[in-house]
Amino acid sequence: MKHPITKCGLIAVLTLSACSDKASKQSRLLTNGNPDRGKTALTSYGCVACHTIPGVYGSNSLTAPPLIGISQRSYLAGMLENTPDNLRSWIQHPRKVNPHTAMPEQGVTDQDALDMAAYLYTAR
Ligand code: HEC
Repeated sequence: MKHPITKCGLIAVLTLSACSDKASKQSRLLTNGNPDRGKTALTSYGCVACHTIPGVYGSNSLTAPPLIGISQRSYLAGMLENTPDNLRSWIQHPRKVNPHTAMPEQGVTDQDALDMAAYLYTAR
């Protein structure tokens, strides 16, 4: 017990990285998407023009609700049950779900929607 603080610090670091690896694997299983590609897509589709998204550089807009803690929500956009399929449908076709929503249809491909959903389920 020469360096108790160092030991605790090391354990904390290992535990944290194990946790985020686990979250990333879970989200891949849940949605079959790739969160790393999803993160890039959230920027390239311009989602960040309206949404603040944790971990996504340059996203600080509060025009629309911040996309934080999505994995813990019961509902998406105030009306859909929170399932991976529903998240993907909302990202691809928000106006089919709610014709009055301000969120635009952006021609998001199936794969990009899966990848973005995977990222949003890991972001907190
Ligand atoms: C022009 C602004 C705008 C853009 C661009 C935009 N959104 Fe949205 N988004 C909104 C608004 C407004 C809401 C709230 C919708 C509602 O409740 O009807 C919303 C809601 C959401 C929700 C549900 C959030 C919640 O709290 O339940 C998700 C997820 C989402 N958007 C993802 C995206 C993604 C992914 C993109 C990029 C492909 C995107 N948005 C682009 C305006 C936008």
